Amino acid sequence: MPGTVIVGTQWGDEGKGKVVDLLAEDAEMVVRFQGGNNAGHTIVRDGEEFKFHLIPSGILYPGRTCVIGNGVVVDPSVLIDELESLRRRGIDVGGLRLSANAHLIMPYHVLLDTAGEARLGKLEIGTTKRGIGPCYADKSARLGIRVQDLLDAKILRKKIAAALEPKKQLLRPYERDPRIDLHAMTEEYLRYGHRLEPHITDTSRLCWEALDAGKQVIFEGAQATLLDLDHGTYPFVTSSNPVAGAACVGAGVGPTDIDEVWGVCKAYTTRVGAGPFPTELSDEVGAHMADRGHEVGTTTGRARRCGWLDLVALRYASRLNTLTALAITKLDVLSGLDRLRVAVRYRGAEGAVFDEFPYHQSILHTAEPEYEEVPGFGEDITGARTESELPPEARDYLALISETTGVPIRLVGVGPGRDQVVTMAAAP
Ligand code: GDP
Ligand code: IMO
Ligand code: MG
Repeated sequence: MPGTVIVGTQWGDEGKGKVVDLLAEDAEMVVRFQGGNNAGHTIVRDGEEFKFHLIPSGILYPGRTCVIGNGVVVDPSVLIDELESLRRRGIDVGGLRLSANAHLIMPYHVLLDTAGEARLGKLEIGTTKRGIGPCYADKSARLGIRVQDLLDAKILRKKIAAALEPKKQLLRPYERDPRIDLHAMTEEYLRYGHRLEPHITDTSRLCWEALDAGKQVIFEGAQATLLDLDHGTYPFVTSSNPVAGAACVGAGVGPTDIDEVWGVCKAYTTRVGAGPFPTELSDEVGAHMADRGHEVGTTTGRARRCGWLDLVALRYASRLNTLTALAITKLDVLSGLDRLRVAVRYRGAEGAVFDEFPYHQSILHTAEPEYEEVPGFGEDITGARTESELPPEARDYLALISETTGVPIRLVGVGPGRDQVVTMAAAP
C-alpha cells in the first residue's frame, strides 16, 4: 500500500496526528498536503506531548522524510519556531522538506483574517485567525508569495508590493503597523528564506521517487471533510480542501498513486468555531465528553463543542473520500455513559426525512437528528489492547459504525498514548 491518505471525517481534531504517528512507523515519507498552522496535531509518546501545526507528524522518527507540500500555506515564522522547539527537545529535523511552490502566509493575511471576522460580527466563522483564508484567496487571485520567492530579494519585494496594492483600503487601519511596512517585511521574509533554504526543494518529485520505488508514503490531512471548502458546511469551513482527493493536488502526485484512504473519526463528535452541528449536546452528556476528552482546541485553546456521533455525516465522509478503512479514536471517553446514541437520519423543519447529508445550508441549520440508542459500557477501557479485551457493548458500538458506513474499522483509540490502541482483525 505505497500511497495512503489519512483524513479527518468530521470537523477536525479527530486524532489524525496520533494515527499518522502510528502508521508512519512503516513509512518512508509523511506529506502534509493542505491547510496551514490552523491545524494542531497532538502526539503523546512515553507521556511526552508534542503539538504540530505545520511539521508532519512523522518527524519523531529519526531520518524520516517529512514533506510540507505545495498545497500547504506556510507561515515561515511559525515553521521556524516549530523547528527550533523540536531541535531543543533533541528531535532531528534534518528530514524536513518544504515545497518551493507552497504559498506563504504574510503578516497582512493575519491582520485581514482578524479584521474580516470582526466585520462579520455575529456572523463570524470563528476562524483560527492565522491568516489561512486571506492567503488562499491571494493564491487564487494569483497575488500569492511562494516559498521560492524568499530566495530572490528583488522578486520578493516586487511581489509583496503587488499583493499590497489592492489591499490598501482594507489595510488602512494598520497603515502605521511596522509588520506591514514593505521594506521591513521584505527584510524579515528574506531572513526566513535564509533559515529555511536547506529544506526547500521540489517535493512533488521527492514523492514521486518514493512512490516509484514502491516505498510507503503517508499523506497527512489537516482539518476534515465537513470543513472542506467545497463539500463542508459552507461558509463555516476552512479555505482548503481537506478531502482525500486533494492529496494529489496538494502533494503533486497522480490519483493512481493512492492505494488506501483511512478516515479518522472520534467515537463522538466535536467542533471548534461556528456553524451547524446537528448532534450537538448542551447537557451533562456533552459536558462528560468535553471533560473526559479534554476537548480544548490545540491551536487556539477554545472549548470544543461536543455531541453524539453522526452517522449521516460519517457516511457522507466515507463516500466523499472513498474510505478503505476507519480509525475510531477516543472510545475510552464514552465509558461511564449508560446509553450511547448515534444519529442515523435527520428530520427537516417541515418533517422531511434525510437519510443522506443534505446539501442545502438552511436544511442543515435546522435539521434534527434521529438517533439509534444502544447500551453503553461502564468499564475503563484504557488498558485494552485487543478486540476481545473490549466490553461487548463497545464492540457492538463499533460494529454499528462499521455496518452503517460499510467501512472496516482497523484501529480503535483507547487513550492518548501511542500504545493505547486496539488493532482490529482485518475485515474479510
Ligand atoms: P488532530 O488535529 O486530528 O490530530 O487531533 P488533535 O490532536 O487536535 O486532538 C485529538 C486529541 O485527542 C489529542 O489531545 C490527542 O492526544 C487525543 N487523543 C487521540 N486519540 C485518543 C484516544 O483514543 N483517546 C483519548 N482519550 N485521547 C486521544
Ligand atoms: P486539525 O488539523 C478543528 C476550523 C476553525 C473554523 C474554521 C475556519 O487540528 O483538525 P480557518 O482558520 O481554517 O480559516 O478556520 O475551521 N478549523 C479547525 N477546527 N481542527 C482544525 O485542524 C481546524 N482548522 C481550522 O475553528 O471553524
Ligand atoms: Mg487538531
